[in-house]
Amino acid sequence: MSSVNVDVQSSFVPVNEPLLDGNEKAYLCQCVETGWISSEGPFVTRLEEGMAARTGRRHGIAVCNGSAALEVAVAALDLGPGDEVIMPTFTIISCAAAIVRSGAIPVVVDADPATWNMNVDQVAQKITPRTRAIMVVHIYGLPVDMEPILTLAERHDLYVIEDAAEAIGQNYYGRPCGSFGDISVLSFYPNKHVTTGEGGMVLTNDDELATRCRSLRNLCFQERRFVHDELGWNFRMSNLQAAVGVAQLERLDEFVERKRRMGQFYSELLADIPELQTPVVETPYARNVYWVYGVVLRNDVPLTALEAMRSLAAEGIGTRPFFFPMHEQPVLRRAQLFQDAACPVAERLARRGFYLPSSIGLREEQMVRVVESCRRILRAAAAA
Ligand SMILES: Cc1ncc(COP(=O)(O)O)c(C=O)c1O
Repeated sequence: MSSVNVDVQSSFVPVNEPLLDGNEKAYLCQCVETGWISSEGPFVTRLEEGMAARTGRRHGIAVCNGSAALEVAVAALDLGPGDEVIMPTFTIISCAAAIVRSGAIPVVVDADPATWNMNVDQVAQKITPRTRAIMVVHIYGLPVDMEPILTLAERHDLYVIEDAAEAIGQNYYGRPCGSFGDISVLSFYPNKHVTTGEGGMVLTNDDELATRCRSLRNLCFQERRFVHDELGWNFRMSNLQAAVGVAQLERLDEFVERKRRMGQFYSELLADIPELQTPVVETPYARNVYWVYGVVLRNDVPLTALEAMRSLAAEGIGTRPFFFPMHEQPVLRRAQLFQDAACPVAERLARRGFYLPSSIGLREEQMVRVVESCRRILRAAAAA
């Protein structure tokens, strides 16, 4: 869908649109012309090798989405009943689902009120003799402070699973996200910095882990086909999806640069709206890439995030709410998880935070319109 030449004042500004005007079409045509449309086509290997090279990993294992990548990563590490995995409460359900389905127990830490990433200081307090792994999730464009996590993991002999779904192309002290810990996962959903429509990847340097991931993604076929020693999944990525991903990966630097410019422009426009907390611009270890441009309503604003989002929708502005914490998820509470978890920061972020249109191709005039609408709805709420 192209939004060029439309009337900016009256047209809807979607929360996210992919940018597909590179080699996507040409590579898709190659798939159709050659007949390589299944997972056995050459673009799958190209995407795996390209993403592994980009992150400095030895192996990339393409799968059908980021949630599947998390399932494979947790299963490959043989996490299971009796094991505890420390993770952020402020994240997507896929992280907790992979842990719970393995039989292991997720143990949550709260979010940091400024960066919205997991509170690294709380991780040490949650380590018990049963802890086997720390799942790190980079949230909304800033990486987690990895150094203390890696030090703890080494000291306590814990695995580190890095969820870099939202941080493709981001760096931590100059080192690529997707390169940290024992195993990393990516998502290629259309709002990600590299999309394949639906898709994901597991990354690792460990040869044995990589072999196991490849087996788990492909039903654990053995040498004698249709004999299975273990249950896997069909989580394969098709050549069609990978073709799109290869074209996207060619432009990753440009995409990240565009996102940074988007974030800077929003921050300038929002600078005189004190009712909104805006993203941290940079930390000693990274410059924000604004995977999404999040805002948090200050406590004295007489609106909840959902009310603000509804008013913005009425003005033709697409938004999304922030994550809803894992320790408040009905499905996980019913499983007797997180009974005494106290995570007030994440609870507040869920109720006061949402994100503005954040497409890679978002234009300045659209951002101006978004911010004017924010200003208008905040003024109206204050006057009511
Ligand atoms: C941090 C994180 N992990 C995992 C996922 C799941 O990826 P997918 O939607 O491809 O299953 C997402 C999706 O947005 C995500 O943001």
